[in-house]
Amino acid sequence: MIELLQPAPPVAAHYRPARVRALFDGLAGTYGAAEWLSGGQLGRWRRSLVAALRWPAAGPVQVVDLMAGGAELWEPLHQHLGPRLALTAVDFSAPMLARAARQHAPGLTLLQADALATGLPTGAAAAVTCAFGLKTLAPAAYPALAAEAARLLRPGGQLALLEFDLPTQPWLRAAMLTYLRLLPATLRYLCPEAAAHAALARYAGAGTRWPVLQAFLAAAGLRLVRQRRLWPGCARLAVWEKAA
Ligand SMILES: C[S@@+](CC[C@H](N)C(=O)[O-])C[C@H]1O[C@@H](n2cnc3c(N)ncnc32)[C@H](O)[C@@H]1O
Repeated sequence: MIELLQPAPPVAAHYRPARVRALFDGLAGTYGAAEWLSGGQLGRWRRSLVAALRWPAAGPVQVVDLMAGGAELWEPLHQHLGPRLALTAVDFSAPMLARAARQHAPGLTLLQADALATGLPTGAAAAVTCAFGLKTLAPAAYPALAAEAARLLRPGGQLALLEFDLPTQPWLRAAMLTYLRLLPATLRYLCPEAAAHAALARYAGAGTRWPVLQAFLAAAGLRLVRQRRLWPGCARLAVWEKAA
């Protein structure tokens, strides 16, 4: 544990916030393509995230979605919670938030801010969510993410993290790595306007350092309540809880 909490090395260029923000500013117009590039899995995985959380039985439900992009989580959350949902979607990319604004979604508030320091109230959120935002986050930023999520949650509140994860089964892992390797050239050929999505495939291939992140979440006072791979084995969903 102590070894995992050692200071991280300097941030690699491709993780620098300005570079990540510029990437998503450029991807915002075609971000919908991510759904078909995943073979329709992204939407299913987001619904799994919503189903995995424990929700208050009555009253308004405040949710903070970190690295929310175009607020893709709003729809499954709203399907589950209806008008009780009060969702704050936090993202540092204005074009991604403009995408969210086009949903005209009831109960949705947009906040352009760094997900690691949102400025939102302490201890108010029943749930904090983050779907597919981890892959572009430097491991050096994990302590700040853990601290911010723990700060935002009210006692008993839950944090759900969802991200691509390379499969452990050798044949599936090889198949996914091959898919990620072939994606850039295939996209350039079939759909040049979505070719920038290949960059996301490279981040996904590098993966999230889950044990390191988990150590920082535990150090921030969160307890892992469940964790599982989602079918077909290339995404991980983890739910953490703040002590009541
Ligand atoms: C792959 S998209 C995920 C969007 C959405 N959550 C989804 O389910 O598809 C990642 C988003 O995280 C945002 N992001 C990355 N790092 C961030 C940070 N430190 N603060 C705020 N937003 C960040 C990017 O601008 C981008 O919109």
